Amino acid sequence: MTSDKPAHSWAPPPADASRVGITLETFILEGQLGHPAATGAFTSLLNQIGLAAKLVTAKVRRAGLARLLGYTGQTNVQGELVQKLDEEANETLISVLGRRKHCAAIASEELETERILSTDPRAKYLVVFDPLDGSSNIDCNISIGTIFGVLRKSSTHTVETSDFLRPGRELVAAGYILYGSSTMLIITTGTGGVHGFTYDPTVGEFFLSHENIRIPDRASLYSINEGNSTYWHESVQRWNAWVKEEDKATGRPYGARYVGSLVADAHRTLMKGGIFAYPGDRKSPSGKLRLLYEANPFAFIFEAAGGKASTGRERILDIQPTALHQRVPLALGSIRDVEIFEEFVRSER
Ligand code: AHG
Ligand code: MN
Ligand code: MN
Repeated sequence: MTSDKPAHSWAPPPADASRVGITLETFILEGQLGHPAATGAFTSLLNQIGLAAKLVTAKVRRAGLARLLGYTGQTNVQGELVQKLDEEANETLISVLGRRKHCAAIASEELETERILSTDPRAKYLVVFDPLDGSSNIDCNISIGTIFGVLRKSSTHTVETSDFLRPGRELVAAGYILYGSSTMLIITTGTGGVHGFTYDPTVGEFFLSHENIRIPDRASLYSINEGNSTYWHESVQRWNAWVKEEDKATGRPYGARYVGSLVADAHRTLMKGGIFAYPGDRKSPSGKLRLLYEANPFAFIFEAAGGKASTGRERILDIQPTALHQRVPLALGSIRDVEIFEEFVRSER
């Protein structure tokens, strides 16, 4: 079955989004105005994430230049640079989120354990993030990103690790920033739709460019590190053979796309449909990606956009985490494409 749907189903952006003037801040503020009881804390927190995104964008863009300069003599710039950028993005997020007292604590892919940012009783939120995703791609100027999720603090006591170990369905917001050919910030609060903002570096603002993103129900694209195929379980190998068979009626063979930065691969999948998968295999039974910082935020975003996220056997957002850095097999994408993947996985006992 070939789809007659266009490659995307959100309203195309205006000719010059920045002229329309809906900045990220305005958009978030208008969202708050729709909830008169809101204290402004959530709005303020999201705006701080927007500020962190601008600061990390600046660092990412400069890091590319630093890498070019590094080529002229230094040998270990690549390792140091990537590491430095991971660290810098991490520190930027921590200091920006700690500035206003809305964020009680954070958990980051780059930190061993959670970090308390505010003991103020009004600090109602917890933020989880992968500060720099796909960082091994920075040295070759390929898209990288930042991924985040926001949870409401559930207790009045000082935050502990267990406060972060909550199923992804409890997120109150999630998003990512893609440092691609342009910088984009995609955000959702779950029920209000998924919205994309494009950064205009000439004015230093994110402008609404992709309102209410909806992922197509299926598409003929798959994204997986096929270099791992020797380790895959037989069900994943059969699914992989299936997407490559010729069958016009089901849009096969699918096209292959794999960047190796989750933010880039997931963003393309969100825009065009299809499936991204990082399954568990013989070598890495739980796959590679982290439940709290990578799988949950993307699962939250994809479901809000009409897509699906699964381990192959269960819904990502229903998993009860047991550790901050736990990994999880992930299949993310168009509802029908993820269902087909699940059918293969479930057929293996
Ligand atoms: P990070 O840079 O935050 O450690 O994440 C890297 C991840 C993710 O971005 C991507 O989907 C995956 O690694 C790619 O892994 P492979 O190189 O094994 O394909
Ligand atoms: Mn990552
Ligand atoms: Mn990372």
